[in-house]
Amino acid sequence: MPTAIITGASSGIGREMAIILSQQGYDIVLVARRGDKLLEVSKELRKPAEIMTMDLSKEENCYSLYERLKGKDVEILVNNAGFGKL
Ligand SMILES: NC(=O)c1ccc[n+]([C@@H]2O[C@H](COP(=O)([O-])OP(=O)(O)OC[C@H]3O[C@@H](n4cnc5c(N)ncnc54)[C@H](OP(=O)(O)O)[C@@H]3O)[C@@H](O)[C@H]2O)c1
Repeated sequence: MPTAIITGASSGIGREMAIILSQQGYDIVLVARRGDKLLEVSKELRKPAEIMTMDLSKEENCYSLYERLKGKDVEILVNNAGFGKL
């Protein structure tokens, strides 16, 4: 199956997208800083996700993520990690 990568997958919109895309049959890669939360999300999926615990505000981690995933059949990127400021 093709892969969907979801950054900011430990809560909110990213978590919901992970669940929806898993139900649609995608292999899921979850990315965020809180590994414990990513594990909880993974347990809600059709099959276990690949978990990448990292801080994407650090440029070297973005390159590391690319290197680790570049061989996969990635069809969807939900580029969602971030925060709001009111
Ligand atoms: N909800 C809205 O109404 C709304 C409106 C406009 C835009 N947005 C944007 O949509 C995105 C998701 O919003 P949300 O409401 O679902 O927020 P949320 O529940 O706070 O989720 C943000 C996600 O981003 C991750 N994250 C934050 N900083 C990160 C970093 N440096 N490296 C890796 N992961 C990081 C968080 O995980 P960890 O803390 O585990 O790293 C979390 O999984 C955000 O970018 C937000 O700015 C939301």
